[in-house]
Amino acid sequence: MSISNPSGRDVFSSKFGVIAAAAGSAVGLGNIWRFPYVAGENGGGAFLLIYLGFIIAIGLPVMLSELLIGRKAQQNAFGSFRKLAPGSMWSLVGLMGVVAAFLILAFYSTISGWTLEYLYQAISNGFAHGDTKAMFDSFKQGTFRPLMWQMIFMLLTAWIVFSGVKNGIEKYAKILMPLLFVLILAMCIRSLSLPGSSAGLDFLFKPDFSKISMGVILEALGQAAFSLSIGMGALITYGSYIQKQNNLGKTAVQVTVADTLIAILSGVMIFPAVFALGFQPDSGAGLVFEVLPKLFLEMPGGYFFAILFFFLLSVAALTSTISVLEVVVAYFSEELNISRKKATVIGASSISVLGVFATLSFGDLSGVHILGQSIFGIMEYTAANLLLPLGALLIVIFVGWKLKQLIVREELSNESTLRVKYFKVFFFIVKWLAPIAIAAVFLNGIGLLKL
Ligand code: PHE
Repeated sequence: MSISNPSGRDVFSSKFGVIAAAAGSAVGLGNIWRFPYVAGENGGGAFLLIYLGFIIAIGLPVMLSELLIGRKAQQNAFGSFRKLAPGSMWSLVGLMGVVAAFLILAFYSTISGWTLEYLYQAISNGFAHGDTKAMFDSFKQGTFRPLMWQMIFMLLTAWIVFSGVKNGIEKYAKILMPLLFVLILAMCIRSLSLPGSSAGLDFLFKPDFSKISMGVILEALGQAAFSLSIGMGALITYGSYIQKQNNLGKTAVQVTVADTLIAILSGVMIFPAVFALGFQPDSGAGLVFEVLPKLFLEMPGGYFFAILFFFLLSVAALTSTISVLEVVVAYFSEELNISRKKATVIGASSISVLGVFATLSFGDLSGVHILGQSIFGIMEYTAANLLLPLGALLIVIFVGWKLKQLIVREELSNESTLRVKYFKVFFFIVKWLAPIAIAAVFLNGIGLLKL
């Protein structure tokens, strides 16, 4: 993001920069850490099917809606709504996104910190003893180490956001993310060739609908939103840096396909190994951290694969955390009129304070429960299952009902030939299908409606 447009705001300098940044935001721990563990806790195959339905029917249209809002308004998430609907309450949607960004980054940085510890362990051959579960348990229950890695990760994120070297990051991501993809493929093959692995494929791909409840359906919606980075303004903010000639529809489709592919492949990498190596699919947030080191021990060249994998996973996490922090920084700097630097310091340090509680809830604060959940759990649930679906709902209602159709057409057609057929489908979805579906899932999932 090095060049500026006439209004003085940064813009992505190339088409590829746009895809790399948006895909960088979408592809992250949500795909590789969260998708397998949430799918594992919610029954596997049937969850995957519902998840895929939500990605296509809701995720893609919401992503496109966010990008077009941002590009039209050329503002941060809050300012975008204020500009497009002056004098209304719509800007509160942007504010909700900022709150969601605080919560997401607080707990996301805990897990990002874990990836750094695992990179360190991989380098120092720390998995060799083989008891990866005991190792994970003692690490996550600690105080100093998990906090240290979390803070290092937050510093990295803040440094990139305020020094504006995203362009550099995108350049590296262009090479590193395909590499991550190839590495995951190699790990899928190893995982699938373990004796007893087919139970894992059955688990992931054979839908068992007896496992489905309204709560599970809401989990699938929350995971779809989380994984695509939608519902909290990250893509409104990124959309505001996209130049007029970029094709938003194409960008949204490419990002969605890449994100979904990586999530499914992560499932294919993890579940066969889970069953073959004697783990439980529903063992929660530690799933990939317990299973993958064991898988590396089974791989020829596993020492090097492990280092490469945890390095790439950290990079994938970093390209996501910068997009979350960017929501907060763009909001603070444009709305409170403070410098980007100041906004970054204030944003990152206040989020870090919140993050300490998320990290310690696996150790010193594990006895603290709110509504039956850990501090980490309640942050994750509130952000992914409440704020993101609610944000997504309001965003599609805004585009379907409030924004002038002409504006939507202009943004989607790139000022060239109107893609009338797609436009009609898109409009039907944002006006009717997505709002009704999200509202029904949301109200049922939190128990306010009984369908
Ligand atoms: N989509 C990111 C991931 O899958 C997480 C994220 C959520 C990023 C919301 C930005 C906004 O890891």
